[in-house]
Amino acid sequence: MAFPQTRLRRLRATPALRALVRETSLEVGDLVLPLFVRPGKGEKRPIQSMPGHFQYSVDELVKAARAAASAGIPAVMLFGIPERKDAMASGAYAANGIVQRATRAIKDAITNILVLTDLCFCEYTSHGHCGVVRGHKIDNDATLALAAKTAVSQARAGADIVAPSGMMDGQVGAIRRALDGSGFKDTPILAYAAKYASAFYGPFREAAESPPQFGDRSTYQMDPANAREALREVALDIEEGADMVMIKPALPYLDVLSAVKARFGLPTAAYSVSGEFSMIKAAAAKGWLDERKAVYEAHIAIKRAGADFIITYYALELARWLGNVR
Ligand code: PBG
Repeated sequence: MAFPQTRLRRLRATPALRALVRETSLEVGDLVLPLFVRPGKGEKRPIQSMPGHFQYSVDELVKAARAAASAGIPAVMLFGIPERKDAMASGAYAANGIVQRATRAIKDAITNILVLTDLCFCEYTSHGHCGVVRGHKIDNDATLALAAKTAVSQARAGADIVAPSGMMDGQVGAIRRALDGSGFKDTPILAYAAKYASAFYGPFREAAESPPQFGDRSTYQMDPANAREALREVALDIEEGADMVMIKPALPYLDVLSAVKARFGLPTAAYSVSGEFSMIKAAAAKGWLDERKAVYEAHIAIKRAGADFIITYYALELARWLGNVR
């Protein structure tokens, strides 16, 4: 039936009606808060390009994780800035590495929060690339051994979920085998399955002190022009044992997110990356848009496209705002 029998505006007339027929929800339980940890004590260094975010020493990090748990956020994702960087990223898999210490401290202090550990090497290598460098190339297969070691070391420290983000071929399989072989059969893998070579990581590289010292990441991260290739990346990661997959960044890749969810149906995450956060922050600071509404809209769109959960720098603010933003 067409107009005038059908009037779609009937169901938009009041907030109560709109709430009744809303197709998608955004809850604090859908959010994961990324946190940066650095050496030291009592340190809380502001990240210039990400207002409200800090590099925390372990003691301060525990407070930040506790605030997240109190707000109802179910999980944090840890990124480490090590004391020292070297060619082989040894800080990433050191038993007493920065993320390992941070993970232990959070798990000891807080019972109701999951710790996800980002598993990558760019924060730990002197050259800033996500793998072993030979000449000016990133050696895929040599990197797998480091990924395996790092996963086991993170699991040993108490990580609830390991999240490999290096975009090396075969990394999920290498990590699954290593975890299984070391008694961590029950540690899930959240694979950054389709991670694009994105300019929207800009602010993160300041936060994690991890810009590549030569070239860029386009020999391992995906070409923004490709969507079909993302389906192949996801299929391979699932075959290798990924329990959940992630699409990253989020907003510019909603088509990919939607296609992945429709095709595979397994738990699917989206990473709303640093640049997505900073764009809204900067525009809001200039008074150019309504921050709460823009943030809600961006995140509900990511849910609508198929995300089961969202890794987002807005997690804490959203937890506060969700009650009255719709
Ligand atoms: C790699 C990693 C990056 C991000 C998450 N994991 C940076 C990169 O690939 O250059 C970016 C996250 C963000 O921008 O918020 N360790």
